[in-house]
Amino acid sequence: MNRDDFLLLNTGVIYFDNAATTLKPKCVVDSLNDYYLKYSSNIHRGMYDIAKTVDLLYERVRFVVKEFVHCSSAKEVIFTSGTTASINLLVFGFMKYYLKPGDEVLLSKAEHASNILPWLVLAKEIGFIIKYVPLNKEYKLDYESFLNSVSSNTKVVSLAAVTNVVGDKRDISRIGKYCRSHNILFHVDGAQSVPHEVINFNLDCIDFLSFSGHKMCGPTGVGCFIIREDLISMLQPVFYGGGMNDDFSSDSNLVLADPPNCYEAGTPPIAEVLGLGAAIDYLNDIGLDVISKYEEMLKKYLLEKLSSLSFVKIFNHSTDSGIVSFKVDGISSNDVSKCLNDFHICVRAGNHCSKLLKEDSLSSTVRVSLYFYNTILEIDYFISILEILPNIFKVVES
Ligand code: ALA
Repeated sequence: MNRDDFLLLNTGVIYFDNAATTLKPKCVVDSLNDYYLKYSSNIHRGMYDIAKTVDLLYERVRFVVKEFVHCSSAKEVIFTSGTTASINLLVFGFMKYYLKPGDEVLLSKAEHASNILPWLVLAKEIGFIIKYVPLNKEYKLDYESFLNSVSSNTKVVSLAAVTNVVGDKRDISRIGKYCRSHNILFHVDGAQSVPHEVINFNLDCIDFLSFSGHKMCGPTGVGCFIIREDLISMLQPVFYGGGMNDDFSSDSNLVLADPPNCYEAGTPPIAEVLGLGAAIDYLNDIGLDVISKYEEMLKKYLLEKLSSLSFVKIFNHSTDSGIVSFKVDGISSNDVSKCLNDFHICVRAGNHCSKLLKEDSLSSTVRVSLYFYNTILEIDYFISILEILPNIFKVVES
């Protein structure tokens, strides 16, 4: 699907590492070039024509994002450098002032480091308690297990909509509705879901949403933090400087700019925001529904083929996203990945930044993560290389 838009795919590379980052279509690169070559200027500062043009283009992307995630207002959209920065803003700009000693925050051990480490650091400072929802045998989070983990002290639930190692698709809508009706704040790490399927911030009762541009065909260095409008007044900036204030004086008086500008201190990643807008336009043209259905078909095919290899152990037969994690008998995951690289196949191996899964006995897997530009032919080629992998290693070792 749309493969001609991705120059890298013409080189013969098979790119199966889309959970780490995605390829960029030509239109996204064109939008970066247009900014740098045709109207490079800062935003929210200049009164001249090109500055005003960039202001309009930058603010247009806020509306594009608002429509894309179905939140209520562009004011709820804060541009950050990516999911990690978004979650740090949530934890150190909001939760630091919201959580009290003894409160409970619910996470899972399948979360990415960026949805665990900020909480661990703040918990030490404040004395709130982090609880982990137990996972099932396939490292999935069941709704029942979530319910059993909630207590009267639970104040916040922070979960990935789709996890990055086994691709567990959580029932975000059900969890969101439960949280809303029990006065629990709900943060969704959308890094692995927003690029692949429709998310509905309002209908799913999400209070905070974080995601990155580079995992959805956009540039690196840009992402979004979406915050429910009536919670904005409780969010403190974590960066201070130009652009985020209306005035300040030597007697320490500081007047913040209106949200969301007060959370975007300094010169923001302007080119990248415009590139993110181009990426969302691009995904909208294809249709997220089309993308998710196609990925589902590819994943099913991949699982079918992979299951026929007796020396491959798959860890997530029943997860719904385009991610498959596995190991090959007797060959380390790093070696599998290096060997696949010799055949121009890119996969990721290791713990994938989710190091707490080791505590549940899942470590160092090979991960294939699919996107809409992958094909059945690529999967067939990949399987044909895996089939000869044990023999290659036998030859190398002998
Ligand atoms: N979070 C990215 C991954 O899962 C980097 O690979």
